[in-house]
Amino acid sequence: MSDYFHYQDSQLYVEQMPLADIAARFGTPCYVYSRAALTDGYRQFSNALQGREHLICYAVKANSNLAILNVFARLGAGFDIVSGGELQRVLAAGGDARKVVFSGVGKSVAEMRLALDAGILCFNVESAAELERLNEVAGNMGKVAPVSLRVNPDVDAKTHPYISTGLKQSKFGVAYDEAIALYCRARDLPHLHITGVDCHIGSQLTETGPFVAATEKILALVNRLADEGIRLEHIDLGGGLGIRYHDETPPAIADYVAALLGALCGRSEKLILEPGRVLAGNAGVLLTRVEYLKHGEEKNFAIVDAAMNDLMRPALYEAFHEIFPVEQEPSPQSSPPSGGGGKRKRQSLIYEIVGPVCETGDFIGHARNLAIAPQSLLAVLSAGAYGMSMSSNYNTRPRVAEVMVDGGAAHLVRERETVSQLYAGEKMIL
Ligand code: LLP
Repeated sequence: MSDYFHYQDSQLYVEQMPLADIAARFGTPCYVYSRAALTDGYRQFSNALQGREHLICYAVKANSNLAILNVFARLGAGFDIVSGGELQRVLAAGGDARKVVFSGVGKSVAEMRLALDAGILCFNVESAAELERLNEVAGNMGKVAPVSLRVNPDVDAKTHPYISTGLKQSKFGVAYDEAIALYCRARDLPHLHITGVDCHIGSQLTETGPFVAATEKILALVNRLADEGIRLEHIDLGGGLGIRYHDETPPAIADYVAALLGALCGRSEKLILEPGRVLAGNAGVLLTRVEYLKHGEEKNFAIVDAAMNDLMRPALYEAFHEIFPVEQEPSPQSSPPSGGGGKRKRQSLIYEIVGPVCETGDFIGHARNLAIAPQSLLAVLSAGAYGMSMSSNYNTRPRVAEVMVDGGAAHLVRERETVSQLYAGEKMIL
């Protein structure tokens, strides 16, 4: 568990706030974030990068709540976006457009226009066709677009195939061997200005090796570009640093940064990083309540009020999230003698933690040993990244509330959706 979620007198707290109080005040399910955890992660990056020109571009897709973006904006962060919608969120949250990099394989004309109008730092271009389109759009607006090419270093990130992006067969980036020719093409296009290079090899990486290998390949390319007279202002090494969900042992932020700086061997280009998960993942939990316990012939089920539409990662990737009771059973020594009026000790059992959605794939956790009863509160850990941002309204389930804790105060940072909001845009035909 991260430092910001801890037990005190058998109660699970986020910072100085009992999660049970948050459930009572805001209802369940809800996502709960720790501002201090978000800030701490960002500072670990900025401290490790001290003395070197850099920009930490938080990957908005990990969690795009305005309050979270605002925490990072105040700390001086830039942002990595993948849509016009994310750009609008960044601007609404007080982010600086001049610190925004725009990634993604399918940027539309409208999104390019929006980003050019806002004056973003750089387009991370992912194909030859996108380069041509961007040149045309910028020309029509009388502007010059800052570009970097997302180069695919063909490095195995050794992570889940769905979140591995740097292999040859991936849809992302331009092939390493075609990069020089594309840079030369970009140089010749009048409405483009080459500013950098970028790569992103995957997510939830738990070793530094693949990052170092990718950096070395990118540097070799930077040298070849210099031979062509193309000089870059920045090198963007993407995001991807993993977190501990269960028993993973990812490198600490400082060690990861040190490995990258080592591989960069004193180069002077500005270093851009695009961390998402490592900043938000362990800064948030999903708070849920047990609705029913159901003892089947082969399995015990704890049916909770959160489901796959609220947290899709277990269903989509068979991802593991720790699940802890918000109120721990009193330990045998501390429990009052029987008949003393104290709580009766609950039996702990192995449960399948499932939601109310009508899919067998709707589970939050398999085979968890928990001492719980109907109405017990559970915290699903490491849910701050790719939790709320990937949630849906499947089964006409309103998206849940989001709460940010700051010391001893809890703030509602997104209201729970209402059902009428869900069908507000729908119409019947006569
Ligand atoms: N930059 C680019 C270009 C990316 O595609 C991504 C993530 C990031 C940065 C941030 O990566 P991070 O630091 O968060 O690993 N939904 C999946 C994760 C998908 C990641 C996609 N790209 C999950 O829940 O595990």
